[in-house]
Amino acid sequence: SKLEMFVDELPDMPRLQGYGVKDDLLLPGNLTVGMYEKFWKFHRDLPPTRVFAYGLTQDSATVPGPTIEAFRGVPTHVTWTNHLPSRHILPWDPTIPTARSGAGGVPTVVHLHGGVQPPASDGSALAWFTADFAAVGPAFAGSSLVYFNRQPPGCLWYHDHAMGLTRANLLAGLFGVYTIRSPELERPLGLPCGPTFDRSLVLFDRAFRTNGSIYMNTTGNNPSIHPEWQPEYFGTAIIVNGKAWPFLRVSRRRYRFRIINASNARFFRLFFSSDSGLRFLHLGSDANYLPRPVHSRKFLLAPSEIADVIIDFSEASASASASAVVLTNDAPYPYPSGDPTDELNGKVMRFVIAPEREDDPSRVPRRLLTLPRPAVHRAAATRYIAMYEYETASGEPTHLYLNGKPFEAPATETPKAGTSEVWEVINLTEDNHPLHIHLASFVVLEQRELVGLEEFKECMQKANDAAACKVEEHLKGGRRRRVPRYEHGWKNVFKMRPGVATRILVRFAPLDGGTYAFDVTAEPGYVYHCHILDHEDNVMMRPLKLVH
Ligand code: C2O
Ligand code: CU
Repeated sequence: SKLEMFVDELPDMPRLQGYGVKDDLLLPGNLTVGMYEKFWKFHRDLPPTRVFAYGLTQDSATVPGPTIEAFRGVPTHVTWTNHLPSRHILPWDPTIPTARSGAGGVPTVVHLHGGVQPPASDGSALAWFTADFAAVGPAFAGSSLVYFNRQPPGCLWYHDHAMGLTRANLLAGLFGVYTIRSPELERPLGLPCGPTFDRSLVLFDRAFRTNGSIYMNTTGNNPSIHPEWQPEYFGTAIIVNGKAWPFLRVSRRRYRFRIINASNARFFRLFFSSDSGLRFLHLGSDANYLPRPVHSRKFLLAPSEIADVIIDFSEASASASASAVVLTNDAPYPYPSGDPTDELNGKVMRFVIAPEREDDPSRVPRRLLTLPRPAVHRAAATRYIAMYEYETASGEPTHLYLNGKPFEAPATETPKAGTSEVWEVINLTEDNHPLHIHLASFVVLEQRELVGLEEFKECMQKANDAAACKVEEHLKGGRRRRVPRYEHGWKNVFKMRPGVATRILVRFAPLDGGTYAFDVTAEPGYVYHCHILDHEDNVMMRPLKLVH
């Protein structure tokens, strides 16, 4: 039986104040957020689903978790507590490098994605812990973490990051939104604000059994090597803020939506039908504002990317079909050369637009926030980062690596704190991989097809040495690929196209100037990785070790 679409109203997640207030003064905030097992209703007609959820209490825990609201410059202290049962609700594969607790329990650790925080608060994959700290990972140093919020305002998200379990822990429900606001910088912009007109939409896909439980394929496509690991998880239902294909009633005016792709592996290419009259006005991408707003009719959002957009429903055409518009997705899965979307995963949610036009005091200024311009000539180093997929003789993927190295191999990316570097990311696979770098922000400089790809691939597979394989020759003269303008800002994830070299300028310094307020060179350091969670877990992740 098929689930009827657009029958559940879009939920708004509970909001937690990540700050304190006393006599009109903002003070550092203290929160204790737990991880609980509970049942969650994903759809009116679906039995409750067993999930793992973040919340202040088990009763108030939600999927996605509560939205933590922080103010720029005001630290938020969060103590994360693990109340999860002794067994995971989803299969995980012990043959990939995985956090394992002899004591039982579900290893978890929280990372604030897009946050500029000290290594000990960054949620290292090896800093995991189970319920009551019965077992902890080798990098564990306490679960009270500090987020200084000393960075430009924007949208972040927090999610689990335990070694080898990230895909299963997020699938179970461990993620939520985190916003950093700056009244000083943002109020003059005049953008739509307040809980009704500034909302987050957390998109993800899930498959369910008829009893409501989350379905995850437990036969690896290559059982003799990895009995359970699948290279990409895809679900049949599209979930927004915890409901399958929900609807939202809106007024004929501007709304701001922070759209987060929290899927394991699904890309979304989002658009409205052309007769709706609706389009997107991009204010920011990932955690940062663009210098100026940029229009699009359609945009692509990889796992973990955030699009901060205005939709102006007063632009909706007068036709009857425009009173209920469907946000649509046509990104093939895996992206870009997988299956086309169908009538289930091709639909996201419905907006029911009120007939009458409404007063709208908001505006969108021509200029947003000014962040530093990339200064490529001052880059301290150039690095080559190659993406590889390893396969069995029959062509089944066994694992993926960055630079041909496992996660445990000593750090090779050791940038100097305060500098910028050029990273030339060379994708030798057939899929698009969203690369995420912790701590740093980066801008894309260029995307160029590799010349003589097959020859280069062969050399790299043997020698694993970009210089020895004459990388510069393969970069010369390749066809340039256009980067959409909504991706020109400072980002923390970028979609690395297959067969393409993507050059990014990575800044290892605070975007608003000055130096880091804490020791970024401390243990256990940071990481960078592919944000397709099934790839990250097996093991498209490498350490990132800053030095003085
Ligand atoms: Cu969104 Cu390393 O994570
Ligand atoms: Cu990947």
